[in-house]
Amino acid sequence: MSLPTVLLTHTLPPDWIASLTGRVQAITGPADATCLDPAFEPYLSTAEGVLCLLTIPVCHDLLERMPNLRVVSNMAVGYDNIDVPFCTARGIPVGNTPGVLTEATADLTLALLLAAARCLPQASLDAREGRWSTWRPAGWLGTDLNGATLGIIGMGKIGKAVAERARGFGMKILYSDEIARPEVESALGAVRFPFDVILRQSDFISLHAPLTEATRKVINASTLRLMKTTAILINAARGPMVDTTALVHALQEGWIAAAALDVTDPEPLPSCHPLYSLPNCLIVPHIGSATGNVRRRMAEMACENLLAGLENRPLPYCVNPEIYTHPRR
Ligand code: DGY
Repeated sequence: MSLPTVLLTHTLPPDWIASLTGRVQAITGPADATCLDPAFEPYLSTAEGVLCLLTIPVCHDLLERMPNLRVVSNMAVGYDNIDVPFCTARGIPVGNTPGVLTEATADLTLALLLAAARCLPQASLDAREGRWSTWRPAGWLGTDLNGATLGIIGMGKIGKAVAERARGFGMKILYSDEIARPEVESALGAVRFPFDVILRQSDFISLHAPLTEATRKVINASTLRLMKTTAILINAARGPMVDTTALVHALQEGWIAAAALDVTDPEPLPSCHPLYSLPNCLIVPHIGSATGNVRRRMAEMACENLLAGLENRPLPYCVNPEIYTHPRR
């Protein structure tokens, strides 16, 4: 019996995807692919599965060219790169990797928050480059976390894990979300407010909502203008939630104090981008989930989803489970 053809958009460490051995005919793209490998072209019409990263758009156009596709497995918790409604309409299950990266992403968020609050990038650079001439009472002054207000936009799993950590630093938690989160309110004393109130009242604002049409550019010139001039913005969610041009102005002109970004728009940010030249902007290359254990588990979960879809079993981690309860006629 021939094995199903699947497209692995990127080369992954073999031991992370060992479960696929002998069960699929994998056509694999390069490890650092930034778009769908043109070498996949001859396989599009026969491929039954795709295992992709969040950097590959699985758009309407591509899906139209894959008539035999039976499963899309994203090695990410976010799935804004995939046209899920179109997959659902075709009865194609879409898988993601929820839960496993919650704690790592929350850790990285706190790392960004602390680094920005205490001017670590600039202080480290100054030390390395010979500007640490003495202990300067008024040098490298940062912001206290204890007693400061953290506004969390999107109190899902990651937002909650960030709130738990921030409470440990003595921060007050405000949040905005479509729904109330009573468990976070009672456990952490978090208080839900409308979005604009959070922006006005917070010392730190951290984004943790999924990217949707409602959250795209939710941080823009008008909303940046609502923030305190001392505010620090942290984005470890999705780059397009922030209007990059507006953020450059906000940081250059002091509408806010600083930003710390794990994600950008565009991504990657070109090396000549003005954000890199701003001392009050810390940028890291989308590493929220980047621990060895987490990335391996994400790949394993993506393989579990891929194999389940190919074997006509429900995906263990499925973003459109309605395809099973309301199958296409
Ligand atoms: C995700 O999984 O959505 C993150 O952005 C990458 O780990």
